[in-house]
Amino acid sequence: MKILNFGSCNIDMVYSVDHIVLPKETISATELQHFVGGKGLNQSVAIAKSGFPVYHAGCVGKDGEMLVDFMKSVGVDVKYVRVLDGSSGHAVIQLDKNGQNSILLFAGANHCVTAEYVDRVLEDFESGDFIVLQNEISNLDYIVDKAFEKGLKIFLNPSPYDEKITSDILGKVSYLILNEVELAGITGISDIEKGLESINNKYSDCKVVVTIGEDGCIYSYKNTAIKQSAFNVEVVDTTAAGDTFMGYFISQTASNKTLEEALRTASMAAAITVSRKGAAPSIPLITEIKDFRG
Ligand code: RIB
Repeated sequence: MKILNFGSCNIDMVYSVDHIVLPKETISATELQHFVGGKGLNQSVAIAKSGFPVYHAGCVGKDGEMLVDFMKSVGVDVKYVRVLDGSSGHAVIQLDKNGQNSILLFAGANHCVTAEYVDRVLEDFESGDFIVLQNEISNLDYIVDKAFEKGLKIFLNPSPYDEKITSDILGKVSYLILNEVELAGITGISDIEKGLESINNKYSDCKVVVTIGEDGCIYSYKNTAIKQSAFNVEVVDTTAAGDTFMGYFISQTASNKTLEEALRTASMAAAITVSRKGAAPSIPLITEIKDFRG
C-alpha cells in the first residue's frame, strides 16, 4: 500500500505582528521570515517525519527549489513534482503575539495541475493505495473522480473551504479531516455535534475527523464517536497544526494503529507543531512524539 499526496507547495512569508491588521488600519511587522509550507507539502512532511513513505505530486515554479529540497531532506519522494516556469504558490501570513494567524494565499504554480498530469501520476497507483488531498490545487474534482474510479482511498482536507468542495466530491471521500469552520461551511450548521450528525447522515460511507483547536478532536462514523483531548502546550504559532494532525493520522491509519492511538499520536504531533514557529520546519519527528510529555 502506497501513499500519494497530490497537493500544494507554498513559500510562507510570515510577518510577526502585535495583532492581525484590521480594515483601514496600517501597522508595522516586527519581523519577516520565510518558511517552507503549503497544506499539501506540510502533510507530506508530517507523513515522512512519522516514518511512513510518501510520494508528493504537485507543481512549483522556478523559485521552488527550497520547497523541493526541503521535502527531499525529510524523505518525501518528489519524483512526481513538476517544476514549471512562473512562480511558486505563496502565503502571506500574519502571526500575532498570541500565536494566532491569518493567511492570504496566492496559488501560483499550484493552479497548474492539469488532467494530463493527474492521469500520468495516477497510472502508478492502484486500488487500496491512499491519496491525500486539500483544496489549494487546480483540478481537485478531476483528481477525486479518477482516484475514486481506481479504488484509491481518498483522504480530503477541504481547506480552504469554498464552492469547489461539492457534494459530488464529498460523496467519494473515505476520510474527511477538517476543522470546525470547514464543518460549518459544508453543513451550514455551527454546532459541532449537529454538524457531524448531518455530515454522517448525508455521506454515510465517509469517516469524519473534526479538529477543534484547544478542545481536541472528534472522530465520527456511523454509530462510533471518539473524542481526543488536545495536549496543553505554550502556543507559539498554530500554522500547520491541522496539516501535522492530518499527516500523522493518515500514517497511523496506514500502519493499522487503532483509531484511539491514531488520534492521540496525531494530537501530540500537532501540539508540538504549535509550540514552534513556521510551517513545515515545525513538524516533529516520530521520535520527538515518543519523548513528548504533554
Ligand atoms: O495550513 C498551513 C498552510 O496553509 C501554510 O503553510 C500556508 O502555506 C497555507 O497553505
